[in-house]
Amino acid sequence: MCCIAHTTRVKIIISRKMCLKVFRFLQYFYICVGLLSCNAKEDRCFCHLSGQVDDCFCDIETLEQFNNEKVYPLIQDIILKDYFRYYKVNLFKPCKFFDGDVGLCENEACSVKICPEEDLPKGMRNENFNKNCHEKGTLTICDSKKMDLGDVNGTLSNITKDFLSQWDVHDNTIHRFCDLDDETSADLQYVDLVNNPERYTGYKGPMAWRIWKSIYEENCFLPEDSNKKKNVMYAPFSQGENILQVTNGDLQGMCLEKRVFYRVISGLHTSINTHLSMEYLFEDGWGEKKWGPNLQEFQRRFDPSITKGEGTARLKNLYFIFLLELRALSKLYLYFKQESIFLFTGRLKEDKDMKQMLIKLLEVTNNFPMHFDEGVMFKDENAKSLKIEFAQRFLNVTRIIDCVTCEKCRLWGKLQTQGLGTALKILFSGEEISGIDNPPFKLLRQEVVSLVNAFARLSESIKSLEKFRELILLQQRSHSKEEL
Ligand SMILES: *[C@@H]1O[C@H](CO)[C@@H](O)[C@H](O)[C@H]1NC(C)=O
Ligand SMILES: *[C@@H]1O[C@H](CO)[C@@H](O)[C@H](O)[C@H]1NC(C)=O
Ligand SMILES: *[C@@H]1O[C@H](CO)[C@@H](O)[C@H](O)[C@H]1NC(C)=O
Repeated sequence: MCCIAHTTRVKIIISRKMCLKVFRFLQYFYICVGLLSCNAKEDRCFCHLSGQVDDCFCDIETLEQFNNEKVYPLIQDIILKDYFRYYKVNLFKPCKFFDGDVGLCENEACSVKICPEEDLPKGMRNENFNKNCHEKGTLTICDSKKMDLGDVNGTLSNITKDFLSQWDVHDNTIHRFCDLDDETSADLQYVDLVNNPERYTGYKGPMAWRIWKSIYEENCFLPEDSNKKKNVMYAPFSQGENILQVTNGDLQGMCLEKRVFYRVISGLHTSINTHLSMEYLFEDGWGEKKWGPNLQEFQRRFDPSITKGEGTARLKNLYFIFLLELRALSKLYLYFKQESIFLFTGRLKEDKDMKQMLIKLLEVTNNFPMHFDEGVMFKDENAKSLKIEFAQRFLNVTRIIDCVTCEKCRLWGKLQTQGLGTALKILFSGEEISGIDNPPFKLLRQEVVSLVNAFARLSESIKSLEKFRELILLQQRSHSKEEL
């Protein structure tokens, strides 16, 4: 109904010049793959992770090399610069969809009698909210506010604060795609992203699933064919987390635009889970905290035998969303080359250098030959309404993030969805960007900062797959030693 359903898988995505090259490559590639068989026991997360990215005319090996050698080193430097490390955000928007508690029931039978505060253990009383309390003999001792892993550290130096207040004057706005906050509003605060790295916080269980569950089950497009809907083969998300997801097989029956929606959500989810597996929290016997890669956690989410074969498709979607944001960045190359666009922090020399760094990155992305082609999307007669629905659903997803109860997770969730929303805005703003003198297209600082940081997170995820590959090899070696 929507667009031309059943668009063929490989319809796309590349300049004519490249087409022949790619065709030769694929021919060659498929011959190779035919020759190499995959030993299912070995390297299980990665064994099928090669070849073409679904719905894109680009292969994983090329993309990985491009990222690890060209993009990753550049972008790692960029996100340390002041302009990019301070992200202005409203972390305390009310959640529109669920109340704070899981499974809250509005029926009277479910209501709970409130227990007066003085009956509560001291550590649970309001005054001690977010403090760290412990028992000592008959006393309860509460530290004055001690940070929890999920809290955002809002500390900024006074000098930084001064600078930031000057920057604000230089932002102005037009054009909106996702919910953008008024940058001058007092509800927005600067957060230092370098000081608040995205890593495992222990936020999991029903609260965390509910967020992803509602995104997948209520916001992603589902197969249209009602027959199929009934029998749809949902895949469990991972061991112990039952989020039902449309399988890669079912996606094939959906139109390109709906598949793209699904793949970016799935790619984002993959990326976030890769970060959490890479920066997992380990505690030694003495309560010392350490973050490091956790192979088991990674396998739990991506090993085909645990995920009914869906793990590989999820990893492929990481490359898909990377390609999509890469394309958006490359379209900004001419935009940022304009003299009139500043990345303002007030330190002229630094600002110039920083802009050069960004332009270098954009040039690298612009020269990448196998881009995602947004031009094939939203083309048929229902395109307009589909585009509106696409945007609305996406907007809704960004709002669901306000319901994430862990503050640090909310920060990174907001940053990454806003970055993705900005990429979509760039891709679907059509001709407006390319015209150098075209006044209507503008990006807010929030958008630039979130796009660059979101892309840096994807770049980091792809880079860290290298590490997990190594760990899997080590694991296999030690297994085969044991067998000897
Ligand atoms: C918050 O960040 C500041 C600046 O880096 C640091 O000095 C402080 O110890 C951090 N606070 C906590 C509780 O981690
Ligand atoms: C920062 O500014 C606040 C309020 O103006 C002041 O109380 C505080 O002492 C200052 N801190 C430093 C390190 O200068
Ligand atoms: C937005 O998301 C919520 C939570 O999943 C869902 O209940 C609601 O139907 C969605 N609204 C739209 C317009 O998609």
